[in-house]
Parts: sequence; structure tokens; C-alpha cells
Amino acid sequence: MGSKIVGSGSYVPDKCVTNKDLERIVDTSDEWIVRRTGIRERHLLEADEDPSKMGIAAARAACADAEASPGVIDLFVVATNFPDMICPGSSPFIASGLGLDQVPFFDLKAGCSGFVYGLAVADGLIRAGMYRHILLLGSEALSRVTDWSDRKTCVLFGDGAGAVLLEAGKQDEGVLGSAIFGDNDKAMLLHMPAGGTKEPASDSTLESGGHFLKMEGAGVYRSAVPMMESATRSALAAASLDLADVDWIIPHQANIRIIDSLGVRLGVERDKIITNLDRVANTSTASIPIALDEARKDGRIKSGDVVVMTAFGAGVTYGAVVVRF
Ligand code: UT7
Repeated sequence: MGSKIVGSGSYVPDKCVTNKDLERIVDTSDEWIVRRTGIRERHLLEADEDPSKMGIAAARAACADAEASPGVIDLFVVATNFPDMICPGSSPFIASGLGLDQVPFFDLKAGCSGFVYGLAVADGLIRAGMYRHILLLGSEALSRVTDWSDRKTCVLFGDGAGAVLLEAGKQDEGVLGSAIFGDNDKAMLLHMPAGGTKEPASDSTLESGGHFLKMEGAGVYRSAVPMMESATRSALAAASLDLADVDWIIPHQANIRIIDSLGVRLGVERDKIITNLDRVANTSTASIPIALDEARKDGRIKSGDVVVMTAFGAGVTYGAVVVRF
């Protein structure tokens, strides 16, 4: 028994914000952002838009792509770091929008590696024979936790959602190997100090901006490349494959310099690495499934191709999954 990706879907909000637009609200420049990150524009929710709409649209598109009705889904997992509500999360609201009836659901919080963690978990549950169809969604409304006066973070993020439908299949198709890791010493590199149970919301946390995402960018940067490299090698070893067998790599879309360094360390040519961060920026858990969906739909990823998806993120978490399409 194995698990196969039989459909994918994605969604980004209509509103597009360019680097030039950001020049008007913080002390930055299009030139700085492109040179340091590779990002040119991002899509953001309007203030009155319901974040669930992104996940509902991406999940519906994945089911349509698989020619499956949502009725076949027997487990729904939402990888997200910033849910609609801290309790009960995002998954019940998106499940409701999808019309899922009595289907178990849960939110999975594992930083920007959430989608990769979710694939590893979903594959394990299918292999264990517990479920036959798992809908896995990465959905993130980062604009709602971004400090729009902090140029060190606000230029990096975008909103979006991406989903895949996994189906029980044969051992040698679909997910061939996975490897997930965590380094808890680095927990404070990316964090939101307030609004949880350690520092509940109060006038003073509001005043100090404690409900915004804080990041030590250079620390994250230094960890990201070796982590994704080692996770990629471990996942390939678990799949009994090596880099020569890989058709495509889809890394977490955080920074083009991180992605290029990863390619150099792995010895993989640039044209085998799928990127879209110039258009959508860093959408956290949605970044890999959005890029995957685009590459499947435009014909780059073909049947039989071996794809490695690798990510790192808050926690610090990191991991990789090898999939044959
Ligand atoms: O999903 C995981 C999420 N996070 C990441 O992946 C982030 C990983 N880190 C990065 O991508 C990079 O560290 C950044 C893009 C965040 C920053 O790039 P950097 O090359 O590490 O720059 P830096 O933080 O060392 O800052 C260099 C300078 C500083 O000015 P001074 O102190 O040298 O005068 C910053 O204040 O660039 C300045 N700076 C900016 N300037 C213009 C920082 N942000 C901006 C900005 N526009 N938006």
C-alpha cells in the first residue's frame, strides 16, 4: 500500500501588491527586494475577505482535478500556522465550506514545513490502512499577522492556499519516501509572542505589536539551506533513489538566494527547480502546493516524473518528501 497524489488545486487572492506599492508604505525599494529575495509581487486578502475562502477554493480545485467528489474524502488535514481562530482552528470552517459531512479534520502546525509534514503524516496514515482518501491543504493568511510597518518582514509574505488529494495506491507510486526533522533550539527565530496562552492578548500586547510575526531573518537564512539539503538527501535515501533520478525539486518559496544555494549544494541544475516566489512571495504552508499545482497544470510535471518537495520553517522544522507522479 502507498499513497498517490491524484489531484491538486490552488488559489491566491485577486489583490496584487507590487514592490513599488510597498515603497509607498515602508522604507524599501523594488531593487532591494528583488536583489535580496527574488520577490516582485504578492497577492493579499482584502481586509473584509474571509481567509477560509482561499482554502475552500484550493480544495475544491484539487477535488475537481482528481474528478472526485468531496464525498470520497475520509480525512481532512489543514496545514496552517495562523488559523481563522486559535480555537477551533481553520479546518472546521473550511470543511463546512466544502460541505464535508462527519469527516474528521484537524489543523497541523509545523511552520512553513507544514505541507511537507502533512504529506509525510497523510502517507503514513494511508499506508497504515486507516484512510483511503486524504485531502491535504496548506492555507495561510500571512497578511493578517504581518507588521506592515516592519520592512524586514512585510516585503516577504503573501496569502494563498494549495491542496492535494491523496488516494491509497500501490507501493511504488505516489509518495516514495519522506524525512521530517525539528530543531527546537531555534524556536525563537520565527515566532509570534502574544495571543497564545503564554502571553494572552491584552492592551499592552496590542501596544507592543505582540500579535505580529517576528523573524530573525539572517538566522533563518543560515539554517535553511543545510536543512533542506540534508532533508532532501534523507528523503531520497528513504526512497532508495538518488539525485540523478529526480526530475523536479520544489523548495519552499522563501528567498531565491536560499533556493539557488540549495541547488548548488545539491548539484541540481537551476531549470529543474520550480519557483514562483517572484509572483506570489512566501505563502508559508501554501507555497509548495501552489507551485506544485502550477507545474502540474502547465505540463512541466508529467506522469512518471519524480519530484522532491522540501521545506523549512518556524519551530524550526524541516523536511522533504519524494513523490512519483
Ligand atoms: O518561511 C521562512 C520565512 N523566512 C525566511 O525564509 C527568511 C530568510 N531570510 C531572508 O530571506 C533574508 O535574511 C532577508 C531577505 C529577510 C534579509 O536579507 P539579508 O541579506 O539577510 O539582509 P539583512 O537582514 O542582513 O539586512 C541588511 C540591510 C539592513 O540594513 P543595515 O542594518 O545594514 O543598514 C536592513 O535594515 O538591509 C536592510 N533591510 C532592508 N532594506 C530595504 C532589511 N529589510 C529591508 C527592506 N528594504 N525591505
